[in-house]
Amino acid sequence: MPKRAKISIIGAGNVGATCAHWAAAKELGDIVVLDIPRADQPDQHMPKGKMLDLACCGPIERFDSNITGTFDYKDIAGSDVVVITAGIPRKPGMSRDDLIETNVKIVKSVSEKVAEYAPDSKVIIVSNPLDAMVYTAWKATGFPTNRIMGQAGSLDVARFSTFIAWEIGCSVEDVSALLLGGHGDDMVPLPRCTSVHGIPVTDLLSKETIDACVERAKKGGGEVVKLMGTSAWYAPAAGTIQMVEAIVKDKKRIIPSAAYCDGNFGAKGLFVGVPAMLGADGVEKIVEFKLDSDEQKLFDESASHVQDLVGTVVKLFPDLA
Ligand code: NAI
Ligand code: 2OP
Repeated sequence: MPKRAKISIIGAGNVGATCAHWAAAKELGDIVVLDIPRADQPDQHMPKGKMLDLACCGPIERFDSNITGTFDYKDIAGSDVVVITAGIPRKPGMSRDDLIETNVKIVKSVSEKVAEYAPDSKVIIVSNPLDAMVYTAWKATGFPTNRIMGQAGSLDVARFSTFIAWEIGCSVEDVSALLLGGHGDDMVPLPRCTSVHGIPVTDLLSKETIDACVERAKKGGGEVVKLMGTSAWYAPAAGTIQMVEAIVKDKKRIIPSAAYCDGNFGAKGLFVGVPAMLGADGVEKIVEFKLDSDEQKLFDESASHVQDLVGTVVKLFPDLA
C-alpha cells in the first residue's frame, strides 16, 4: 500500500497556514506546520492552534490528513516535501529586495534544520527575495539542485492569466500563459506563449491591452501590498501547492519555477524562473526553447538582477559562497 505523502511547511503565518489549508483541501498528504515560539506570548502555541482549527475542517471538507502544528523540528522527519515560508513580508513602500538582510538569516537557519531533520526532502522556497532565498537554501542545505526550487512563476502566471481572462470575459481555465525570470518587477511575461484555449492571445486582445495585463502582473504583488498593508497569501499559497501536488503525485507538470540553470536560457549557476518539469524527483528537467532577441534581453536583465542579490547574500554570509 503506498503511504501518504508528508508535507512540512516552515512558517505558520499567512502564506504557510494557507498552504496547509490548500494542501488539506486537496488531500495531498499529512501536513506539519512549524513556527517559532513568541517571547511575548509564552503561554500560546500558534501553529498548534491554527492546525487544530484546520484539522476540524476535515469532516466538513471531507479530507483525511494528519495535521500537526509544532515548534519542534523532529516532527518534520520523513518529509517528502518541505515548503519554507519563514521570514518577514514587505510593507507598503518596500520592495522584495528590502527584506534580504532579515530573511537571509532566517532562511539560512531554517534550511540547516531542514537538512538535518528532513535530509531526503524536496524543498520549495517561498520567502522573499525569492530567487536569492532559493540560492541561500541550496547552499545551506547542500542538497542537489533538483531538490531545491522556488515558487514565484506559478503565482505570477496566475496573476497574468487572471487579468487576461478578465479582459476577454472568458473562464480563467482556458488561459494558458508563460513567464520567465526573477520574482521581481523585471519578471518576463511572454505574450507570444500565452493562449486562450490554443488561440494566441495576440489574436484576441490589442497590444495595449496585453501590455496593461503584463504591467499589472509585474506589479501584482505591490498592488496587493498597497491595498492590504502586507503581502498576498491566497494566490502565493495556491501557487506553492500546485508545485507540491506536481511533486507528490509525480505529475511531470511544467510549472515556471525558480530552478537551477546551468547555462539554460543563458543563465549559468543561478536559480531563476524557467519552465520546470516537476515530478517525484523535484525539478526533473528545464524545458528550454529559443527566446527572441527582445525576450532574451529582458531575461538577461532579470537574471543579472538575481545575480546581484546573490552577491548581497554572499557579502552578508561569506560561508554561503
Ligand atoms: P507572515 O509574517 O504572515 O509569516 C511568516 C512566519 O514566519 C511568521 O509566523 C513567523 O513567526 C515565521 N518565522 C519567522 N522566523 C522563523 C523561523 N526562524 N523559523 C520558523 N518560522 C519563522 O508572512 P507571510 O505573509 O506568510 O510571508 C512569508 C514570506 O513569504 C515573506 O518573506 C514574503 O515576502 C514571502 N512571500 C513570497 C511570495 C512568493 O510568491 N514567493 C508571495 C507571498 C509572500
Ligand atoms: C507577491 O508577489 C509578495 O512576492 C509576493 O505577492
